[in-house]
Amino acid sequence: MSVAAPTSWPWLGIVPAMRRAPHLALEGLWGQQGDHATARLGPHRLHLLGDPEVCRALLRAGEDEQKKSFFYDKLQPIFGQGSLTAQGEAWRRNRAMVQPLLTPRAVQTYAPVIVATTERLIARWREAAARGDLVDAAEGAAFVAREVTVRALFGDASEAANAELTEALATLEAWIAKRFWALVDPEHYWSPARTRQRAAAAAVDALVYGLIERRRTDGSDTDDLLSRLVRARDDAGALSERQLRDEVTTLYLAGQETTAQALAFTLWLVARHPEAQTRLREEVRDAVADRSPTGDEARRLVWTRACVEESLRLYPPVWSFGRETLCPFQAGAVRLSAGTTCVVAPWVLHRRPDLWDDPAVFRPERFLGQSASRAFIPFGAGPRNCVGRDLAMLELVLATAMLVRAFHLEDCTPEPVTAAALVSLKPEPAPLLAVAA
Ligand code: HEM
Repeated sequence: MSVAAPTSWPWLGIVPAMRRAPHLALEGLWGQQGDHATARLGPHRLHLLGDPEVCRALLRAGEDEQKKSFFYDKLQPIFGQGSLTAQGEAWRRNRAMVQPLLTPRAVQTYAPVIVATTERLIARWREAAARGDLVDAAEGAAFVAREVTVRALFGDASEAANAELTEALATLEAWIAKRFWALVDPEHYWSPARTRQRAAAAAVDALVYGLIERRRTDGSDTDDLLSRLVRARDDAGALSERQLRDEVTTLYLAGQETTAQALAFTLWLVARHPEAQTRLREEVRDAVADRSPTGDEARRLVWTRACVEESLRLYPPVWSFGRETLCPFQAGAVRLSAGTTCVVAPWVLHRRPDLWDDPAVFRPERFLGQSASRAFIPFGAGPRNCVGRDLAMLELVLATAMLVRAFHLEDCTPEPVTAAALVSLKPEPAPLLAVAA
């Protein structure tokens, strides 16, 4: 069923539709105008690119041809010059420092943390099942993503910081969401929310600088990401305190919410598809019996991985992202002048009926055997693709495998679950699952 085109209002353009359900507004825009759709967004004009090859060409274009769009500026107060938001030399340096720490091989070291955290969730869900309670898949997924991120970044010395960081960062995330579609930037006038945001930002700074300081002085040779970043050197030396703070906060925030939402959607989808679930359970039992899976074994769980990929296709946590052209840009039939604000929307690309059979249907076998479609970009493309992709996939595959091996999942959400797009895409309402051993 095609999605209605968004109504465009004088001056506001499609802002009201974007505030309500931005992913559907973009899908409707593509349905109405095709591969190069444009719409007014308050003072801006958006260009939605619907052709995967054009999207990839833009994402691969050189730094003199395109940069991240103004949406990323709204993240700057929190992420600073971390690798998500920085441009040019500052980005290149941080990316070069972080990338070697998150290669497929390097992330294997975090498999035991992922396994131990998932075991804690299994124990909690067993208790809930014994009481006859349903479990909240979003809450469980957020627990796994938060614990894994905190432990991967800060190791064990993080217990006290964990709760405080979680609370402060939730405030900051709410602030980012508020700024996203605001016509008058709430950054520019006083409000209780702005006061809360300032206090939360100060709390994050104090905590993260404290953790950095401890790593520098205690001399412990731990293997967490923060220690590795503190030790990292390039020709210009080590990262400064400020650069470390920005990168650590970036990794903490960019990795957590996205992975949590992806895991929540995956568990909900598997709970709704008993055949896929049975096949997944059998695969895990065949490959690892009742042992704790290793990172290496995770690679052999091809059906589990296909279920995760199909979930990322249907519900890409980063449902859109933006670029601005810096000079005239041409790819295929699309010609853009300098200064054009472009939107690449995985939500739209992943649901094009001409590129995917029955795009709304959960069918993991699409991802078996052949290389993924060029229209599948949940982690972006080009040099600024997701640096945490391998950690995210390892976490999603291992957690899904262990949870489905431990329980028969059944979707018992009383209302239909849909996707709500804020900063990331999340299931709404939170899926409630019956978990039987
Ligand atoms: C399912 C989980 C995840 C999804 C769907 C996801 C998606 C994405 C996407 C689409 C981008 C590119 C944005 C753009 O081009 O404008 C991106 C960038 C990024 N992601 Fe992820 N991500 C996930 C998990 C993670 C994790 C676990 C980490 C950190 C450990 C992480 C850290 C980053 C960073 C630092 C960038 C910026 C890279 C750069 O610009 O050089 N992400 N992510």
